[in-house]
Amino acid sequence: MISVKNVIKYYGDYKALKDISFDVKKGEIIGFLGPNGAGKTTTMRILTGYIPATSGNVYIDNYEIHENPREAKKLIGYMPENISLYTDMRITDYLNFCAHLKNINKRIIKKRIDAVIEIIGLGEYRNHIIGHLSKGYRQRVGLAQSILHEPQILILDEPTVGLDPTQIIEIRKLIKSLSGERTVILSTHILSEVEETCEKVLIIDRGELIAENMIYALKKTVDNEINSGNVKLLVRDRASEAVDVLRAMPGIRFVNMNEMEDISITTESEYDIRPAIISKLVELDFEILEMKAKELSLEEVFLHFTKKSKEKRKAEEKEKENITG
Ligand SMILES: Nc1ncnc2c1ncn2[C@@H]1O[C@H](COP(=O)(O)OP(=O)(O)O)[C@@H](O)[C@H]1O
Ligand SMILES: [Mg+2]
Repeated sequence: MISVKNVIKYYGDYKALKDISFDVKKGEIIGFLGPNGAGKTTTMRILTGYIPATSGNVYIDNYEIHENPREAKKLIGYMPENISLYTDMRITDYLNFCAHLKNINKRIIKKRIDAVIEIIGLGEYRNHIIGHLSKGYRQRVGLAQSILHEPQILILDEPTVGLDPTQIIEIRKLIKSLSGERTVILSTHILSEVEETCEKVLIIDRGELIAENMIYALKKTVDNEINSGNVKLLVRDRASEAVDVLRAMPGIRFVNMNEMEDISITTESEYDIRPAIISKLVELDFEILEMKAKELSLEEVFLHFTKKSKEKRKAEEKEKENITG
């Protein structure tokens, strides 16, 4: 559905995107993650044809965004970051204005606006002035304009930024309900947002794509690399003795204990070894106070990949120094 090939973007001398490539399949909901300044907005503007890439290509369902911008843009609904709405317009007038910009057939404009107002839940506000709406409802207007022309792809740049927690939950729900058959790319620097809305993530840092996969797969990769411990255990008194017992057990790869005597265990991948651990410890008269499975948080995954990319960058700089110096 979307194919990004070797996109590079310079702003003057500044290289904001350093050779980005990725593909998005039809129906996928992708979280586009990265710290501020990473290049999320730049990528989205290029995807939607608002700014050109310095080099590289973007294909939207086989239409190259700069060779066939009209066809490509028909397929895309875009909600820009900090969307600038015409704050003195009424919602219906604004949507009518957008519908004309999008070249929607005049005969169906009214029907589309009514439908979109219904879908987005703006019914009771339809004649309100946009400037008088809460931020959450303004974001809804932004979403409404993005789906007016019934696009197959939605590109949403930080749709929940600046909202309070209740509004965030509502907008998230709305995005989920809009996704349906659509392909969605959603940028955010809030990790929990991605975890709740998306199945797959792209992580960008300083203009480089540093990870791309299903969330569970990324967690697994990181788990394997850092032995973070997928089972947590607390026993009474004889913790270090328990550690020795666990280390000798088959199916256990790694056992660690912190100063609070919390034991963390990394087990061999697929197999759930918790029942075996319990039987073994009970057999040896350990008192188990607590045992729980622990999944890596997306924060931990994110930190791992950004740390790795920083280390890689440092190593490359050092190598450069060695060559030139
Ligand atoms: N129009 C512009 N001119 C010059 N630099 C820009 C421009 N837009 C963005 N940048 C720079 O490009 C980098 C990526 O910005 P952006 O894509 O907005 O990141 P994000 O959306 O991830 O926060 C930042 O360092 C930013 O300062
Ligand atoms: Mg941005």
